[in-house]
Amino acid sequence: MRLDGRRVLVTGAASGMGAAIARLFASEGARVAVLDRDAEGAARVAAEVDGTAHTADVSDPAAVGPAVEAAAAAMGGVDGVVNAAGILLERPAEETTPADVARLVGVNLAGPLYVCQAALPHLRAAGRTRGRSATVVNVASMAALRPVVGMAVYSATKAGLLAMSHSLAYEWGPAIRVNTLCPGIIRTPMTEYLFDPAHPAYETIPGRHALGRAGEPEEVAAGALFLTGDESSFISRTELAINGGTYR
Ligand SMILES: NC(=O)c1ccc[n+]([C@@H]2O[C@H](COP(=O)([O-])OP(=O)(O)OC[C@H]3O[C@@H](n4cnc5c(N)ncnc54)[C@H](O)[C@@H]3O)[C@@H](O)[C@H]2O)c1
Repeated sequence: MRLDGRRVLVTGAASGMGAAIARLFASEGARVAVLDRDAEGAARVAAEVDGTAHTADVSDPAAVGPAVEAAAAAMGGVDGVVNAAGILLERPAEETTPADVARLVGVNLAGPLYVCQAALPHLRAAGRTRGRSATVVNVASMAALRPVVGMAVYSATKAGLLAMSHSLAYEWGPAIRVNTLCPGIIRTPMTEYLFDPAHPAYETIPGRHALGRAGEPEEVAAGALFLTGDESSFISRTELAINGGTYR
């Protein structure tokens, strides 16, 4: 039980990677709070992991604050946060609207900050009293390391999240370790459209990966577990690419 007694808030946990992270963390002994804008999905996953569900749009700090407080009250504190909530927009730059930009920045970049800010007193308290650093794991993307054509603003938000995570690691250490995951193409509801044989990207997926396939959400959850558990006790301000050896 690598997370025995840990209390972890997972955003975006109604679906995809966040849900896989919630399940894996619970199976490793953590108490889990599921935070998502999808109330029904959050309740379903929370019931599966014997955790609690909290509904909020992460881009709205007025909603995030009370949701994080409720999660902390339910778990008796917060030792860890995983920010997996995010949205994708595949759209040529010249067609990207101000509303698209505001939404992407609000959810993918500001959202993790608002969640971390709300959780900060709890993370600091846990870091002081439990003799180990509390943890934040932010789910960015391979697009943070190598921007994707047709996803200019998405890529920029994920690069921004990576940069912000580096700053937070310095600002909040040693009480809190802050690390980033950079997944490649992972099969979740967000990317399901790519797995339609009619989509032009479908046939190219195996050839784009050294491992010949896209990833599964459970393979990203394994990385989140490593960065949250004690096996990574001397790791902060780093990024872990989980991408099957993507090379184009
Ligand atoms: N799937 C991929 O290939 C891939 C690759 C790299 C990075 N990512 C990133 O991984 C993370 C998880 O993506 P996924 O593939 O599991 O997607 P997903 O769509 O299956 O899950 C995303 C979850 O986030 C929630 N969410 C979205 N906006 C929200 C908001 N404003 N407030 C609260 N909750 C919100 C959704 O309701 C959903 O439950 C995202 O940040 C995504 O950008 C995904």
